[in-house]
Amino acid sequence: MTLRLNPEECVQAANILKRGGTVAFPTETVYGLGADATRSSAIEAIFHAKGRPSDNPLIVHLRHPDQLSDYCRPISSLAYRLMESFCPGPLTLVLPKKRSIVDSVTAGLNTVAVRFPSHPTAQRILEAADLPIAAPSANRSGRPSSTSWQAVLDDLDGRIDAVVCDGSTDIGLESTVLDVSGFVPIVLRHGSITLEQLQEIEPSTRLRAASDLTSTNSPGLRHRHYQPRARVVLCDSPNEVAEPVPVTSFSGGRAVDEESKCSSGGRNAYIGLSEPAPGLHFAMQRHCRDVEDYARSLFDFFRQCDSVGIANIYCQRVDEIGLGRAIMDRVRRAAETS
Ligand code: TXA
Ligand code: MG
Repeated sequence: MTLRLNPEECVQAANILKRGGTVAFPTETVYGLGADATRSSAIEAIFHAKGRPSDNPLIVHLRHPDQLSDYCRPISSLAYRLMESFCPGPLTLVLPKKRSIVDSVTAGLNTVAVRFPSHPTAQRILEAADLPIAAPSANRSGRPSSTSWQAVLDDLDGRIDAVVCDGSTDIGLESTVLDVSGFVPIVLRHGSITLEQLQEIEPSTRLRAASDLTSTNSPGLRHRHYQPRARVVLCDSPNEVAEPVPVTSFSGGRAVDEESKCSSGGRNAYIGLSEPAPGLHFAMQRHCRDVEDYARSLFDFFRQCDSVGIANIYCQRVDEIGLGRAIMDRVRRAAETS
């Protein structure tokens, strides 16, 4: 049984972590599945619960930059400048690692990814545990990340020791991962701290190039990610894929009746910034106010679609600037078939 804790029970959550257990908790990005980063058996429990390939390293969560020198070295002046600007918050830094972090956390790499979450519940747990806490997103490997405690339990009930049942996460996509272990900072994963913001601090910051795609600097990229059971398809406009509203729809206040659900239009869903034209419909649709709303809603929408048996989820493309890069990265990878 997975213990349900409320956000006031952070000390209990911390005690479970100190005993080597696994606890899912909210961060400002997505829910994380935490365990003691100095204890191999606790880390093994994370990989086992998620069904995660052991060659995909974990992010270590810390309460305060003062703790960094216990786990990483050397720490460049650039890393300190970035922490001043963006930490605590949704930025993960990849730094050279010290031995105190067990090898299974970093999949044997000589670097470790660290981040300082800004979510008050995550901070209280880190404070009370007084340990470095490794925490991947709290979902079964390959599935969309969990942005609510209900999503955590859908994937991991009975497989983890506890979950802290707090609100839905604010950002909804995982942190930006920036490799600062070399001469030039490289964005390994897009998130809500954007390339443009990072380049304001360090203009040489660049995106991962195809030639950087070695197993050592981008380990997570080889695996399937963010995928609902429904097929994900990218589109430029909802109007290119929607079906005309069937005559039987919208009866009794329900969006779609059983008959139309069985037609192809009834099994399609849409999420994006544009509203479908009048007269067109999807069995489920999410019209987002802006890119922030799109990012926040995406994974939850994927899971909702799965719960009602949607066959195809159409995701509208957005411009690849700012947060749009992170959205496009996630929807592209969700759409990958291999
Ligand atoms: O927002 C987030 O980052 C969430 C919350 C819970 O903090 N965590 C998260 O963890 O997204 P996870 O395990 O789902 O993704 C970690 C990413 C993977 O792409 C992994 O390959 C990369 O960080 N990573 C971890 N350690 C690394 C390292 N030493 N070098 C390069 N990439 C690393
Ligand atoms: Mg993940």
